[in-house]
Amino acid sequence: MTHRERFLAALNHQPVDRPPVWLMRQAGRFLPEYREVRKGHSFLDMVRTPELATEVTLQPLRRFGIDAAILFSDILTIPEAFGMRVDFPEGGPVLSPPLRTAEDVRRLPRAEVRESLHYVGDAVRMIHGELGGKHALLGFSGAPWTLACYMVEGKGSKSYDTIKAMLYSAPETLTALLDKLADAVIDYLLMQLEAGADAVQLFDTWAGELRAADYDKYVRPSTLRIIQAIQAKGHKIMVFARHPGHLTESTVRLGADGLGLDWRVDMAQVRKALLGLGQRPTVLQGNLDPIELFAPREHIERRVQEMFAAAGGGTGWIANLGHGVVPPTPIAGVEAFVNAVQALRVAPMAGGAGQ
Ligand code: CP3
Repeated sequence: MTHRERFLAALNHQPVDRPPVWLMRQAGRFLPEYREVRKGHSFLDMVRTPELATEVTLQPLRRFGIDAAILFSDILTIPEAFGMRVDFPEGGPVLSPPLRTAEDVRRLPRAEVRESLHYVGDAVRMIHGELGGKHALLGFSGAPWTLACYMVEGKGSKSYDTIKAMLYSAPETLTALLDKLADAVIDYLLMQLEAGADAVQLFDTWAGELRAADYDKYVRPSTLRIIQAIQAKGHKIMVFARHPGHLTESTVRLGADGLGLDWRVDMAQVRKALLGLGQRPTVLQGNLDPIELFAPREHIERRVQEMFAAAGGGTGWIANLGHGVVPPTPIAGVEAFVNAVQALRVAPMAGGAGQ
């Protein structure tokens, strides 16, 4: 099987020789060759220049035997398409002016993502050409709630007090914003799929900041609308929602083709929830704690075996981390992880997470 065939087979619940593997944030500062390119360019230059985005997308594929490439970009391209200014100074992204009132949300123009983010489509086309069908290519977007967190707070936050104050005092303002974001995200993901992405992933990094009841009532509908719109066009969509476990049922019920699990979530329990809820087959993805990549090789190998067992030992699992690779990660840890997954064998006809 080629890398791409293996990845797509897993996503389609077809037999695989071994589980596919890729890593969230696999292109980035832990790689010396990324830091070398980055020396001469700002992060945003790299995102906006298809040749540079293509080069750094391919870097981890040259080094590790991973099955999928993920477009090098950022989730904060969408706020830019809404006319916000986005900067990446040391210490994390800054968006201005932040959205605070019902009037700010009402005045937000419709985002013409296919025009303003044309460079993203160009990068996907270029990467797709370079891959020559050997590796799967993933596109992505931030989910509406996580995008709204940055657009309302104006930066990352520890307590999300501004956006939560909006949620509790003016929920209709927040849901109007989430709706506008969902429209833009649908266009954006379809653009990437039409340009050659094999599947797309939504990143809902800040989902876990909410109580399950609030997530279900205010946030889940916009994410669900995106998933259904992408599936209605015959495409595959995965969701990674970061939460310590309380959103398992809410996210399982999204009916995505793949569900990325936070490292704190018990994969065997999610598998049970999937079966119990009679949900459409969903491939589970994850969920090694990214900090376990700092551990000795034997630890990583043991954890890969444990995850394989928790996922059912068969098809229906894509090996990954439970959040992104962090910059100080040792390369040897990533090698140990990928090699351990490559050494796994799926028994013919074995069941799995989604069976
Ligand atoms: O997975 C990949 O390799 C693809 C590329 C990718 C990046 N960002 C590159 C990046 C993806 C999928 C993202 C998504 C993203 N961006 C998320 C969701 C996933 C997650 O990690 O939770 C979020 C919340 C962002 C917003 C963002 N971008 C932050 C908070 C930061 C600064 C923090 C940091 O790590 O520096 C970024 C910058 C960023 N995005 C870098 C990279 C490689 C570092 C930029 C640099 O070179 O200085």
